[in-house]
Amino acid sequence: MCGIVAYLGSQEAYPLLIKGLKRLEYRGYDSAGIAVLNGEGLKAYKRKGKVQELEDFIHSTPPLGKAGIGHTRWATHGIPNDINAHPHLSGNGKLALVHNGIIENYALLKAALEKEGHHFQSDTDTEVLAHLIEEVQNRGQLPLEEAVRIALKRVVGAYAIVVISQDEPGKLVAARKASPLVIGIGKQEFFLASDATPIIEHTRKVVYLNDEEIAVVSLHDGMKVKTIQNEVQTPFIHELDMELESLEKSGFDYFMLKEIYEQPTTIADSMRGRINVEENLVRLGGLGNHIDKICQARRIIIVACGTSWHSGLIGEYLIEDLARIQVEVEYASEFRYRNPIITDEDVVIAISQSGETADTLAALELAKEKGATALGIVNVVGSSIARLTDAGAYIHAGPEIGVASTKAFTGQVALLTMLALVLAKKKGTINPDYFHRLVAELANIPNKVEKVLEYDAEIKYIAREIKDRHNALYLGRGCNFPVALEGALKLKEISYIHAEGYPAAEMKHGPIALIDEQMPVIVIATNKSAYDKIASNIQEVKARKGMVIAVVTERDKAISEMADFAIRIPDTEEPLTPLLSVIPLQLLSYYIAVMRGCNVDQPRNLAKSVTVE
Ligand code: M6R
Repeated sequence: MCGIVAYLGSQEAYPLLIKGLKRLEYRGYDSAGIAVLNGEGLKAYKRKGKVQELEDFIHSTPPLGKAGIGHTRWATHGIPNDINAHPHLSGNGKLALVHNGIIENYALLKAALEKEGHHFQSDTDTEVLAHLIEEVQNRGQLPLEEAVRIALKRVVGAYAIVVISQDEPGKLVAARKASPLVIGIGKQEFFLASDATPIIEHTRKVVYLNDEEIAVVSLHDGMKVKTIQNEVQTPFIHELDMELESLEKSGFDYFMLKEIYEQPTTIADSMRGRINVEENLVRLGGLGNHIDKICQARRIIIVACGTSWHSGLIGEYLIEDLARIQVEVEYASEFRYRNPIITDEDVVIAISQSGETADTLAALELAKEKGATALGIVNVVGSSIARLTDAGAYIHAGPEIGVASTKAFTGQVALLTMLALVLAKKKGTINPDYFHRLVAELANIPNKVEKVLEYDAEIKYIAREIKDRHNALYLGRGCNFPVALEGALKLKEISYIHAEGYPAAEMKHGPIALIDEQMPVIVIATNKSAYDKIASNIQEVKARKGMVIAVVTERDKAISEMADFAIRIPDTEEPLTPLLSVIPLQLLSYYIAVMRGCNVDQPRNLAKSVTVE
């Protein structure tokens, strides 16, 4: 939820930290700060607001020093202000700390430290940890890494931290538990961050810290890793596979728009090497020998949050329909706490763009403990969920920077569609001709997404009609019902217009009471199997003077004539329609948000990856 960046080496730290924080700002953006170490000691600067405000504040006198830590915050404990911003200093001001996560027992620790004479400036849990490390260090006269290790043994909760101390220059100490931390290894220099985005322009060699590991990076001794239990570890060096260009806006006003427009490519990338139309083949190498297990599973349980949960619902429709395997889709946050019945006959699939969502990670851990096969559909390579699973498939969408998920959603849906096809073929539950048609059509979906994007100007025009409304209703049926949920979520999160998604037939059971001339109703009307029923739902809206925006197929006549506005998408096989029908809804939300003057990439109160509960 927050972003950490740190540097140790022979370059000036300040410009690297600021640039790194800008790369990480999508993770949290309510305040930012840095601390740089030089011969005179630690210099810390903190500011409420965006990284730019911090930079303006420091302005013409940037601190000098070749080691430093930085943080961009998404507030948990204490409102966003200058004091609560990180880094936090110890009582004697000699040690500074940046932290992602939550220290759950901070109140107890704080009370104990206050008894020892510690005074706190902020309302944060992080400052308590800084003081705790100082206390442990002073009591035992310990080196920094040992004080950090012992202090962390007393901490309950989640953390990724980097600590710097003026008593031990030339060294940074980092640790993680349930919150990611990556260490980039350069030539006689180290780059630490909560994800690889600020590291990639400096080095491709990285180490992902594991849970309950502590790393010490030192100019003299290189990198050493041990566990909190004091066991020495051998770090594994990974090669980053990420392009710097994917972290730039490349001429688009917002990352979200860029990412919407990337979808023809990202969907194709998700299928690369997995689909072969000539050979009538779909294969998911990463799931390899687990396919038999899934076919024989008592049921598949999909755990996810937000947009990833919506893609899971589409997976449920497709897998049950095509492969005839029972699927349940659960909010990870509910699943993990409701004592679910899971056995070793179940297969649990975690879906996550970031691979770091705390609830999804915990749900997967629970499933593993109970003996289920744990699989993942993840975007971020090397992320915690990806590393926890028994097997999985990456969606290969590249970094998604806009807080509102777009290309990750279509990548997940493409992956789940391939999974449904693989399972259906293996189980013999699909007619071979139909299988071939779906494979050929799926391979052609990127071209059809290009066509949907050509309607951009028309969608922008419709956005103008909706931008001043206060509510919106999204309706869909079958596998387009989750698309309605996703459309509503997109509108809510970036434009702050209240929106709800419903199965179209549910409208009569309550939401119809909301409909009047002020209510735009966005209906996904592409399902051939339920065309007449959707047409009736639209009539019901029209009879109550609601404004209907219908997503229809290119040759549609009847519904287009009924609707106030029609958005056309190319015709396709019904199970594949979500990959097309969601695109106009993404664009619609985007343009409405822009017209309302919202910061599309950094909507209020949200952060890209939710690494705390
Ligand atoms: O990284 P994840 O896919 O696990 O994230 C799950 C949700 O937090 C995420 O999809 C969220 O709902 C997005 N803001 C949706 O646009």
